[in-house]
Amino acid sequence: MTSTAADISSTLLDWYDEHARDLPWRNPPGAPSPQDSDWPYRVWLSEVMLQQTTVAAVKPYFERFTDRWPSFEALAAAGDDEIMAAWAGLGYYSRARNLAKCAREVAARGGFPEKEAELRELPGLGAYTAAAIAAIAFGERAVVVDANVERVISRLFNITEPLPASRKAIRERAGEITPEHRAGDFAQAMMDLGSSICTSKSPRCLLCPLQEHCEGSKAGEPERLPMKPPKKAKPERRGTAFWIEQEGHVWLVTRENKGMLGGMRALPDDGWTAGQDGSGERPLSVDWEDLGAVRHTFTHAHLTLSVARTREAQKPEGHGEWWPVSDLDEAGLPTLFAKAARLALARD
Ligand code: ADE
Repeated sequence: MTSTAADISSTLLDWYDEHARDLPWRNPPGAPSPQDSDWPYRVWLSEVMLQQTTVAAVKPYFERFTDRWPSFEALAAAGDDEIMAAWAGLGYYSRARNLAKCAREVAARGGFPEKEAELRELPGLGAYTAAAIAAIAFGERAVVVDANVERVISRLFNITEPLPASRKAIRERAGEITPEHRAGDFAQAMMDLGSSICTSKSPRCLLCPLQEHCEGSKAGEPERLPMKPPKKAKPERRGTAFWIEQEGHVWLVTRENKGMLGGMRALPDDGWTAGQDGSGERPLSVDWEDLGAVRHTFTHAHLTLSVARTREAQKPEGHGEWWPVSDLDEAGLPTLFAKAARLALARD
């Protein structure tokens, strides 16, 4: 049987009607978009949070953000430091910096644009996010392609050319099967299929609603798709973070508003982000106690961060604040520095 685009999209939408995940930012399948202005806000916030991040990790952040800032206006009125601290632990911090900028721009222009092309102009909205918001929040027939969709499409059409060269063909095929109506449900159905059935390592083809249409499954070993170029080994970096403690307070800095972990509160360090490794220079001439090291993996590198401690009362040079050690959870340290802090607190 030859599959038509309409067969594929209607089969997938029927599957979604029964199996859609119930997620806090979602409308039930087939329901018309809510007309209130909080709806695009929720879709936008969830899509920004979901970039490179799992649904399980996003859920509690999404709930906390929408309780505290239920609208663009509320978020636009929040301070950068509050937003950065609330984002701590979710990673890819440039998203949080753009979030504040974008909310202010939307509040200033008096509303959220509805078309994919205009959405692209907002801070932090790339091709994927703009298409996802246009389709999910406003029902535009936008073609939404994330990593899940790339995997499903590569298999469905047995696209054997490796990524990233295959992206053009994937987008074309995704465009062919995106329906005129319910494009938002269709995009989310592709994501749900990709995360629950058409998974990367062991696809559950017997449960797949699209199996009879799937050329990759018919060709055998669909798990080999999408083909990827060999992975480059991540470089190893080293650095040191400093725990400077005085009368129950620890010295925290706010990192420069650009680059790695930019704008986030942090322990002072020896500049490992600037080059390959830290300078090894210590911020105070005191006796430092070496506490060992923590490991952290970023997208582009592995880091071994040593932790050195002093409890000699001296204020380091430069900007910073004495933060109560008992309230450290409220400081919004990104995961790397939260690990370093745990190491310092575990050692008496
Ligand atoms: N990943 C990105 N956007 C998503 C969505 N709307 N639902 C589930 N997973 C997603």
